[in-house]
Amino acid sequence: MSIMENIVSLCKRRGFIFAGSEVYGGLAGTWDYGPLGAMLKRNVEGSFWRTFVDSRTDMYGVDAAIIMNPKVWEASGHVATFADPLIEDVVNGKRYRLDHLLEDAGVDDVAGLTMDEMVEVVQKRKLKSPDGNKLGEARMFNMMFTTHVGPVQDDESIAYLRPETAQGIFTNYKNVVDTIYPDLPFGIAQVGKAFRNEISPRDFVFRSREFNQMEIEYFCDPGTWERLFEAWVADFHKWLESLGLPKSKTHDLEVPDADRAFYSKRTIDIEFDYPTGRAELMGIAYRTDFDLGNIQRASGKSMEYTVKGTNEKLIPHVIEPSIGTERLIMAILCSAYVEEGDRVVLKLPEEIAPYKMCVSPLLKNKPELVAKAQEVFAKMKKKYGFVAWDDNGNIGKRYRRQDEIGTPRCVVVDFQTLEDGTVTVRDRDTMEQVRVEINKV
Ligand code: GAP
Repeated sequence: MSIMENIVSLCKRRGFIFAGSEVYGGLAGTWDYGPLGAMLKRNVEGSFWRTFVDSRTDMYGVDAAIIMNPKVWEASGHVATFADPLIEDVVNGKRYRLDHLLEDAGVDDVAGLTMDEMVEVVQKRKLKSPDGNKLGEARMFNMMFTTHVGPVQDDESIAYLRPETAQGIFTNYKNVVDTIYPDLPFGIAQVGKAFRNEISPRDFVFRSREFNQMEIEYFCDPGTWERLFEAWVADFHKWLESLGLPKSKTHDLEVPDADRAFYSKRTIDIEFDYPTGRAELMGIAYRTDFDLGNIQRASGKSMEYTVKGTNEKLIPHVIEPSIGTERLIMAILCSAYVEEGDRVVLKLPEEIAPYKMCVSPLLKNKPELVAKAQEVFAKMKKKYGFVAWDDNGNIGKRYRRQDEIGTPRCVVVDFQTLEDGTVTVRDRDTMEQVRVEINKV
């Protein structure tokens, strides 16, 4: 099995990530987090919030509705242009993302090709579908999921599940300005669900149809964006490293004009070397005043910011760091996963490890050890929250089980504990064991 297959298998076996609706045969592009995955996700998103909101004085948070007035997506350009190239197998009707089909066929620099150029490649190379059938006409496919709001289902009631959390920030920009009076530059962050009807979800959670985004819109004076842009790139690199992503595996890609999203004047994608290949982990985009300008035009409401002191009025420009939780979790798991002989270890940074520690009695059949271990367990749980209890099998097996899910340390209560109040603490990475007083664990 490949490393990626081993990681996917570990995620399922140990309760990190399951295929969505698995009991009914699954639903492509959807994933469910199990008990350990839910904790990891909370910890990762918590780290984002602590780093980029709580510990700064220029950042605020919002938590906006997922279903928004459809005018949001008309003004933002998503109704007209949020689409991927699609091509159909004319025999069995299966649909494929045309650019992925070309990449899989070994075509270079697919990202830079226009729709017409991609079609030309298909014709020149006489490309067939993966099932060996003729391919039909290509067209653009809008990725937004539609739904209806209210009891009547007609064109008037159409709404969309948000394809990015960003618009929930832009539409609340004025509310934040009018209630908080922040000095420019300032930023608004949001963490939440986004939905995209991807033509071909793939590579585990990397390309999902439902996923979480952690996004920041940083509002600034247009004259200052370049310096701030560089600072955001540096801050994100620092954060990614703190989550265990090796510097050598993250790469800045200056996205060329032809490949940038319709709203961006400059974008740096931070790519990560996944076992499946180098691919976009996150993007940092200079969105100019594209979104606030559109909202002002479409709503007729002023999006101007009055600069304190000078009373100068301007529409702020925006720098947008945006990262998907699933892509980050996948990068974290791939970075932390180590096979050392027959030992599998997730070397997760302590801050994001699901369990902070595991407590167990040395022997399960000694009531006095079990009672003392339970006392220690209760104490640790109160102090650290998510703490594991394990009294199954021998101590070596317990260590292996905890190594595999990234628990940084195992605390073992033995006969000496009953005498002097010390426990054995075993470190996940070095496997070293030390004796520590219970109160000092
Ligand atoms: N607001 C800007 C925006 O949404 P994007 O590049 O389309 O920009 C931002 O998406 C990030 O969201 C990506 O860098 C990636 O981390 C994550 N993302 C996008 N599509 C995804 C998908 N189908 N599955 C998982 N994550 C995705």
